[in-house]
Amino acid sequence: MSIIEVEQLAKSYRVYKKRDGLKESVRSLFRRQYEDVHAVAGIDLKVEQGEFVAFLGPNGAGKTTTLKLLSGVINPTSGSAKVMGFTPWQRKNEYRRRFALVMGQKNQLWWDLPARDSYRLHQQIYAVPADQFNTTLNELTDLLGVENLLGQPVRELSLGERMKMELIAALLHRPEVLFLDEPTIGLDVIAQHNIQKFLRYYQEKCGMTVLLTSHYMKDIAALCKRVVIIARGEIQYDGSLAGVIDQFSGYKLLTFEFAAGHQPNLGLFGEIIDETWPKVQIRVSRSEVPKILAEVLRDNPIDDVSVEDVPLEEVIAKMFRDSAIDH
Ligand SMILES: Nc1ncnc2c1ncn2[C@@H]1O[C@H](COP(=O)(O)OP(=O)(O)OP(=O)(O)O)[C@@H](O)[C@H]1O
Ligand SMILES: [Mg+2]
Repeated sequence: MSIIEVEQLAKSYRVYKKRDGLKESVRSLFRRQYEDVHAVAGIDLKVEQGEFVAFLGPNGAGKTTTLKLLSGVINPTSGSAKVMGFTPWQRKNEYRRRFALVMGQKNQLWWDLPARDSYRLHQQIYAVPADQFNTTLNELTDLLGVENLLGQPVRELSLGERMKMELIAALLHRPEVLFLDEPTIGLDVIAQHNIQKFLRYYQEKCGMTVLLTSHYMKDIAALCKRVVIIARGEIQYDGSLAGVIDQFSGYKLLTFEFAAGHQPNLGLFGEIIDETWPKVQIRVSRSEVPKILAEVLRDNPIDDVSVEDVPLEEVIAKMFRDSAIDH
């Protein structure tokens, strides 16, 4: 059995449909119109123990809703899910002790208290034995370099520091499954990098199973081999990160640096992405790369040349655009 097994999981919300115009507004006072938003529209997913899986998707795709369902914060409309054999929305204490949910947009720590006090409370709630609690806390504060911030009220901490404190709170009871909803949102590049480094190390060390959502491709590339792409509540892709690029990008980027005096028209071969003379970058079909390279190199003196994949951000943005159009 897989550690996470999801079958045909769906969650819809009934929302009040607003109508334009005075007449319509008055009418809807008497007869309200509702519509169903299918936040998660029947997804299937299996995750094995120790996997680090990324959830990618545009705003409103259903990522947070999925993590809330798997954490038992909300009930599904239909379908089933088992995490370590538990049905999350039954909210068994036994389950609660074995997973954690961290939301980058939400605080779980008490704002006016030092993190240390919140941690003690967690210790009580999760019934963590004192020596285990101390060992874990020391290890986590050391890894994240926040020993000297434990006594400071959380509201005085920077965003990045607070996120580290939130992560510690989530990990104190040594969860086997961790749900991370945009853990690096709003952080600068260095803070993002620190959190990525920590997550990678700690996940490997403890063999935790992690589901992470993020809009930052750097997070994904640094942490996850497997990527699940979700849009409009449905899974669009489930596979390797490398596969995303293979499957969804039929293009490569070619950059040439021409020797002085040469100005060939590369627009004939593909779309010109950047032209800062003597450097020109074009996007060309994958299959035509050898032919185009040969031709350009044959006819022009070149100082430098490179062949790259289209950046992941662009591939995914294009995918989302395409999936929005065909709907
Ligand atoms: N409590 C709610 N009531 C009504 N609609 C909701 C509720 N929660 C979520 N939705 C809707 O469900 C859809 C999915 O929302 P969700 O928060 O899961 O998206 P997301 O993938 O996490 O997006 P983002 O990247 O912006 O965080 C959205 O259309 C959202 O408006
Ligand atoms: Mg979200």
